[in-house]
Amino acid sequence: MTLSTALPPAAADLLSTITATRPAPDEITARRTSATALAAALAANSAAWADLVEYRPDRRWSSVLDHATAAAALDPALHADLVGAQVELFSWLPGQATALHDHGGAAGAFAVVHGALTELTVTETAAGGVHDEEVLLTAGRVRPFAPHHVHQVTNVGVLPAVSVHVHTPRPTVVHTYRIAACGLLRTGTEQLG
Ligand SMILES: [Fe+2]
Repeated sequence: MTLSTALPPAAADLLSTITATRPAPDEITARRTSATALAAALAANSAAWADLVEYRPDRRWSSVLDHATAAAALDPALHADLVGAQVELFSWLPGQATALHDHGGAAGAFAVVHGALTELTVTETAAGGVHDEEVLLTAGRVRPFAPHHVHQVTNVGVLPAVSVHVHTPRPTVVHTYRIAACGLLRTGTEQLG
């Protein structure tokens, strides 16, 4: 007996909907690979967009890079990967950080272009707790991530940092979290334009 046939009809419908909308493993791999290639290529040609970066002492700055500018910075062989993706530029003054957040089910990658960033990744364990891992990402590092990746990125250095982030597909919502005794607790939802 499968799980869905053991469930009441309404629950079975929900399960089939979830199963139908969950990306297949090779689709996730393809999206991560595509985003990684784009992030690496955009970081390698940062001169094409560096003039657009701003620094804000009062809050972390980020801005979506328009499709035409991103395409102009890329080899045409990567233009197909850009379809459906969103490119976003970030600057980080010392001490600036994101909240602990996900990407609304989008896969992606980010590349550190200048400075260094610390990424705290948090995953829930089967036992109901959390596992966290922190890595230092210096300029030149590219960090791919799968859907449902939950992380917090911080500039713990003394120099400003710049990074370029690629999400695929374009996220429409992100959630913020905090670490609780029972795992990750959602603290907020932001609808993106
Ligand atoms: Fe993120």
